[in-house]
Amino acid sequence: MIETVGIIGSGTMGSGIAQVAATAGCRVCIYDANPDALRKAEDSLEKILNRLIEKGRIDADEKARITGNMNYVNTLDSLADSKLVIEAIVEDLEIKKVLFQDLQKIVSKKTIIASNTSSLSIASIASALDNPKRCIGIHFFNPAPLMRLVEVVPAVQTSKKTLKITIDTITSWGKTVAVTKDTPGFIVNRVARPFYGESLRIFEEGIADFATIDWSMKSLGGFRMGPFELMDFIGNDINYTVTETVFEAFYYDPRYKPSFTQKRLSEAGYLGRKSGKGYYNYKEGAVNPKPNEDVGLAQKIFDRVLVMLINEAADALFWNIASAEDIDNAMTKGVNYPKGLLAWADEKGNDWCVRKLDALYDEYREDRYRCSPLLRRMNKEQNTFF
Ligand code: NAI
Repeated sequence: MIETVGIIGSGTMGSGIAQVAATAGCRVCIYDANPDALRKAEDSLEKILNRLIEKGRIDADEKARITGNMNYVNTLDSLADSKLVIEAIVEDLEIKKVLFQDLQKIVSKKTIIASNTSSLSIASIASALDNPKRCIGIHFFNPAPLMRLVEVVPAVQTSKKTLKITIDTITSWGKTVAVTKDTPGFIVNRVARPFYGESLRIFEEGIADFATIDWSMKSLGGFRMGPFELMDFIGNDINYTVTETVFEAFYYDPRYKPSFTQKRLSEAGYLGRKSGKGYYNYKEGAVNPKPNEDVGLAQKIFDRVLVMLINEAADALFWNIASAEDIDNAMTKGVNYPKGLLAWADEKGNDWCVRKLDALYDEYREDRYRCSPLLRRMNKEQNTFF
């Protein structure tokens, strides 16, 4: 079992991952190039643990145990004893590669060197190492201590041993692992694209406004947040960049085409909650539009977004990105979907999915609405996903 963990980058993700590892009993060394970020991470953990004490979730001994496992260090050299290092620095391939080259000189030859990247290929990061077999993607979700899912991403170079130790370690930290191929967006950031993209398209076509689309997805689908509320929460700049990255990485597949609406909002600085305004206004006393609670309209909106999500999940399975179980786990545990999309397809029936998609394709004649060959095949064979 891995007992010593190094974390590089003490921002949003690194500090959360460090908390998870320290809580699981590992001795953690966390390093950041910016000493202020390190101090902030330490203060933030102190506050988080005090809040957990107030809520009665942990006691003072548990807090002392967790903080006792944490070491905030000012040099990369201090990570020398780590058996697993997880990098969570700025999303820049060249900077990550330079860091990995420095790191391999410091840690033991057996140390697993992992990246928390959301959008870079693990193969390209691993290529910086003399021994790329020990490199792997370990993709946590924000906030890392709360989200149960971790996507584990072996690159073409990754050894079976590295994969096994990683899965065992992350599972022992109480997380649900979904193993995914090293392809753009992994599982979640790929399969979730229609939740935003199709909703934006429905808005752009003038079918409904933001509030009505959000209401439809929440009231009929049971989603905790509507797509526009969620984009405002994530930040329109970040959400737009993820879409654009996935679109480019898939050689401009129209299924992932970004939206002008979101691009303009982002350019205008209407980033969402963090800027006080996005699709909605978050300033104190602001009045936001009320949804049109027409159930017929809501059903149409919900069916269209859902079937596009199901199509994306089925296509990820078709291309062997992950197992059916891991695809469904990824969406329920990584982004809190009320149901796994493939289980949802079984519930709706493949026939319903294929008919809906073919109707959209007939109407728009766009490749975006092509039905996944797997859905069509399964419908023919009257098969189910589970
Ligand atoms: P952040 O900006 O909050 O933190 C990054 C930290 O890395 C900063 O404190 C910075 O000082 C430090 N840093 C930058 N270059 C460094 C270097 N060369 N050596 C040491 N420290 C360095 O970023 P965040 O959001 O935590 O993201 C980190 C990584 O995690 C990125 O690869 C991102 O794509 C990925 N990620 C982010 C998620 C999110 O929701 N924010 C979710 C999942 C993955």
